[in-house]
Amino acid sequence: MKYATLAVHAGQHPDPLTGAVNVPVYLSSTFELTGIGTDKGWDYSRAGNPTRDRLEEALAALEGGTSGHAFASGMAAIYALVATLHAGDHVICSHNVYGGTARLFNLIVRHYGIEIQYVDMGNLDAVASAIKPSTRLIHIETPTNPLMALTDIAAVCGIAHARGVEVSVDNTFMSPALQSPIALGADVVMHSTTKFLNGHSDGLGGALIGTKPEHKERFWLVQKAAGGILSPFECFLVLRGIKTLPLRMKQHEENGRAVAEFLATQPKLKRLAYPGLKSHPQHALAVKQQRGFGSMLSFDLGTREAAGRFLGAVKLFLNAESLGGVESLASHSATTTHAALSDAEREAVGITEGLVRLSVGIEDKEDLIADLEQALKAV
Ligand SMILES: Cc1ncc(COP(=O)(O)O)c(C=O)c1O
Repeated sequence: MKYATLAVHAGQHPDPLTGAVNVPVYLSSTFELTGIGTDKGWDYSRAGNPTRDRLEEALAALEGGTSGHAFASGMAAIYALVATLHAGDHVICSHNVYGGTARLFNLIVRHYGIEIQYVDMGNLDAVASAIKPSTRLIHIETPTNPLMALTDIAAVCGIAHARGVEVSVDNTFMSPALQSPIALGADVVMHSTTKFLNGHSDGLGGALIGTKPEHKERFWLVQKAAGGILSPFECFLVLRGIKTLPLRMKQHEENGRAVAEFLATQPKLKRLAYPGLKSHPQHALAVKQQRGFGSMLSFDLGTREAAGRFLGAVKLFLNAESLGGVESLASHSATTTHAALSDAEREAVGITEGLVRLSVGIEDKEDLIADLEQALKAV
């Protein structure tokens, strides 16, 4: 099946009991057993729920993996990735990632004796030399939040696999519609389904998609043992969002490009990062490994005050965290998504006080550009 067909049909076949074309929301914490140790496929919703099963099937199909696992948030999914590692294990992570990922790794996972090393994944020699016998995982975020730095997924997988190390990719910014990490060699794909997969900013969620029987066993164990699973109703919301993902991504993409081209003409911007612009240092890599450039971009207005004036002046763009919903959002990375980092850590990766991130929605692009134009006048 082609992608748009998969989005509508994978995991979303009619309910065998009633013929309902939508996956029913099974609001049941427990299931009647058929005997001692026997059941109809489900016993307790932490271990498995029929609505969650269907979402997990859809996610695995969309990413080309063999098993999907839905978690309560993107962060719960990242936690599940590292939950079965042991003290002394070593994880290599992209050096500019979503601040919540760094918060989890620095303030919690490191305390378990797991070593976390941040590496600039644009430098393949640095990736190769960071690998050691205790390295268990290389975790890539591409493009990164909010600086839109890309990692060559196939190249990193080549280096990692030659040394017996697995690679996971946070595919949140691209969505499965625009980037397929597993086809490029990744072992595991991770999503915050809160973003493009849900697409309507009405529910948090996260996912891991594995490629090996061992992933299925391990991620299911974490779901069942640690319990950070997605509720049936929120599974339904993601299933509903997935049906229009290909359509929405086309409009996000068209609007993202138009907004980036407009912003590129604006003298008040000190730096503009959008992989679809030829001026982006990794534009060629974006063309090679993505099926589009998406609708995330960031720019620098020079000072915190200028960023504040801009965010106070936008009308259609809402001054809010998050991304990937139908509505356009603008946010100040240093005080929102990356507030967990110290000033020095933010400075080291280039998240300045004047940095603003846009998630371009699916409204009319002319209205969006007019809004940005009037807000830039206030800067
Ligand atoms: C790239 C990326 N990964 C993970 C997360 C965490 O997802 P959640 O907010 O669903 O926990 C986010 C949230 O903004 C993100 O942008």
